[in-house]
Parts: sequence; C-alpha cells; structure tokens
Amino acid sequence: MPLYKICLLGDGGVGKTSLRERFLGKGFQSGYILTIGADFAVQNLEIDNRQYKFQIWDLAGQQRFSAVRTLYYKGSHGAILVFDRTRPDSLYNLENWKKELFNNVGRQVPYVILGNKSDLPNTIEEEELNNFIEKSQQEIQNIPFRIKYLNTSAKSGENVTEAFSVLGRSIKDFIEKYKQFQTN
Ligand code: GTP
Ligand code: MG
Repeated sequence: MPLYKICLLGDGGVGKTSLRERFLGKGFQSGYILTIGADFAVQNLEIDNRQYKFQIWDLAGQQRFSAVRTLYYKGSHGAILVFDRTRPDSLYNLENWKKELFNNVGRQVPYVILGNKSDLPNTIEEEELNNFIEKSQQEIQNIPFRIKYLNTSAKSGENVTEAFSVLGRSIKDFIEKYKQFQTN
C-alpha cells in the first residue's frame, strides 16, 4: 500500500487539528486546544479503488513553535495548506507557510489549499483568493501539478475527506510524472 507523508500547515487556530480529527472520524470539538510542536496520526483512504496510507503530521501553527516545527517536514510527499475564511491574515500568511514547507523538504511538493470554517460567514474577497491561487500556480510552473482549492468545514464535515483524496491524487500524479521527468 502506498504511504504518503503529508503535513497540515497554517496559522494557529485555523482548524488543522479539527480537520485531522474529522478525517479520522472523531467528530468535532468547539474548544481550542492548541497543538504543541507536532501531532501525528495515520489513516487509510481508498482513492480510485486503491488503498493509500496517509501519515499525517499536524504541525503547531503558533509562531512560538516555528523552530521545533522544522524537524517534521523532511520526506513529506505533500501538504495541506489551511487558512480560516473568517481571518484574511491567515490567507496572506500561507505565503510564509509555503516557503517553510519547500525550504525544509528541500524541494517543491504538491499541496492543496483549504479555506476552512465554511460554516461561518466568509470575510475573504474572492479576488484576493483567486490572485493567491494564480500566483501560487505560477511559482510551481516547473513541476507538473495543478493547485486545487476547496472550502472545508471541520464542523459540518464539508469536503474534509475530499481534501485528502484530492491531495492523494495530486501526489500520485506528481510521483508518476516526476519519474518520467527524471528519466527523460
Ligand atoms: P494550532 O494547533 O494552534 O496550530 O491550531 P489548529 O489549526 O490546529 O486549530 P484547531 O483545529 O485547534 O481549531 C481552532 C478552533 O477553531 C477550535 O475552537 C475549533 O473548534 C475551531 N474550528 C476548527 N475548524 C472549524 C470549522 O470548520 N468551523 C468552525 N465553526 N470552527 C472550527
Ligand atoms: Mg492544532
């Protein structure tokens, strides 16, 4: 069974742990227990009639954990970048999260962008979001994958499993194409 190591990234409080718990079938908690350093979980998922094992690294979003966080990126196949649709600053900060990801993995890797808390009123301008995705796509033009965006809610469960399948497919395609790239 293919094993994909993925990191959950984004500012403190955007909902990374809540999305992970929802994906693991553990429901939703409204209280905020901030992640210290990193948390780890494993979950299997069937994508296109094949089983995949996801090793999920849920990293602490709070700034004070930035040094310890860098230990966990190595060997990641992909990432889930999460922002909070009620906090525009958390979207702009994804720029820094991408840098931290690519620097610590040592290369660009596939990722999906999630606008979480879709059950609450949105405060992000559509245009800002589209610009961000467009700019991100341009950055990774030299490697073959399309960036996908989804609105999610750890509370309602909207698109949570979908987010992991979408990333899983991107990683699979990327690994297949990347091999061709290297042997051509
Ligand atoms: P750090 O561990 O500090 O990096 O934060 P985190 O990204 O793991 O955030 P966490 O999952 O702990 O969620 C923070 C708060 O937001 C908690 O109170 C959650 O209940 C709440 N929350 C998370 N996702 C959602 C969502 O989709 N909708 C709503 N309404 N609240 C959410
Ligand atoms: Mg957390």
